[in-house]
Amino acid sequence: MTQASLVERLTLCGTAPDSEISALAKEAGLARLVAVLVDEVLFRCDAPVNTTPVHVALEVLHGGEEHRTVLWMAAGEPVRVVDGDVDPPTIRRHLRISLTDLVRRLYGPLRPQHSGDFTDVFLPNRPADLSELRGILEATHQAGGTLLSGCTAEGPGLGPLSVKYGSDKWASFHWYTQHYEKHFAAYRDRPVRVLEIGIGGYEGDLGGPSLKMWKRYFHRGLVYGLDLFDKSALNQDRLTALTGDQGNAETLREVAEKYGPFDIIIDDGSHENEHVRVSFDALFPYVRPGGLYVIEDLQTAYWPRFGGTSGPVTGPDTSVGLLKRLQDDLHYREFDPKPGEPTLTQSEVIGVHTYHNIAFIEKGVNGETSIPAWMDDEAWKALGAITPEEGRAKGDAR
Ligand SMILES: C[S@@+](CC[C@H](N)C(=O)[O-])C[C@H]1O[C@@H](n2cnc3c(N)ncnc32)[C@H](O)[C@@H]1O
Repeated sequence: MTQASLVERLTLCGTAPDSEISALAKEAGLARLVAVLVDEVLFRCDAPVNTTPVHVALEVLHGGEEHRTVLWMAAGEPVRVVDGDVDPPTIRRHLRISLTDLVRRLYGPLRPQHSGDFTDVFLPNRPADLSELRGILEATHQAGGTLLSGCTAEGPGLGPLSVKYGSDKWASFHWYTQHYEKHFAAYRDRPVRVLEIGIGGYEGDLGGPSLKMWKRYFHRGLVYGLDLFDKSALNQDRLTALTGDQGNAETLREVAEKYGPFDIIIDDGSHENEHVRVSFDALFPYVRPGGLYVIEDLQTAYWPRFGGTSGPVTGPDTSVGLLKRLQDDLHYREFDPKPGEPTLTQSEVIGVHTYHNIAFIEKGVNGETSIPAWMDDEAWKALGAITPEEGRAKGDAR
């Protein structure tokens, strides 16, 4: 079983019966499964705050087997797995949980904080030097909290996550995360596939802040990024960095055929208006029904050097022009004369939500009926309505 398919199956196990988790453990082996879970826990963990370093053990039980992972926790360092033997008395805390409970904590639905599935063995051994007791006690308490922060689907909101990972989607030039929270909340518990065009980073920094933010937010999600530059060194479970030019429709279709369809696509790439249109046209067919296509940085619709229009009214070839076209598509049944066969966007765009510099396009079945053509003035009158002319005359008379 490849690592990618193991991880994908695990994300689906969050809502599957115990028997599926057992079958996966049998197929992959408990040690391999626990290694994936521990990586996920470490990705989610808050930074340690304990200034006295401690060892904490995470013990996963399944089918009479126990798999222990010893973690080193110290403020200022990332939590890490200790390879090799550790002198058991120096393990200050043992947090023990069944495999099924841990899988559900990580990939199951969001739920309020709880502790009814862990067995906690706190300071099982008397420290040799009691002058260290206070520091060890405090550190053991803090380190347990750090580990538990990683053993849950819950986490900070998107604003704090964007700051944590270094994305500019909040509290910078942009204030996008409030809109993302509103539109993404319904997808948070689902095993979504998310593609973001534009991974970010600069000389000496590989980037990927928003991909990490999506990975943490969508606790069951598979996150893909696409960038002109090779950023595959970012690859980890549930996060894949792909290389390609968003101005090339063929490349985009190849990516979507291989990794899609996607529940959510976000365009945060070059922001050149032509690229925004090419990407939308190529990728919107690969958004799942019920999914979303997001376009960031609409300001470039007003910037000529990005192919935008100067002045207050944007042209049809800009990103804002595209959104206007989609508004019309949404209303194609109201056209007079009536159109022929609807286009893809006429039949599948069901909502266009525009905020300052960001838009969310909803995909679904644009199947609502229109008022039939035979509803003439006579028919409206039969319902007690007045004609626009009668309404205006009444208004003028007042
Ligand atoms: C604004 S950054 C993305 C920031 C990131 N999404 C975040 O929120 O942290 C834009 C990225 O788009 C990439 N890019 C520029 N032109 C591109 C193109 N034609 N195709 C794909 N990626 C492109 C750049 O290399 C850069 O990494």
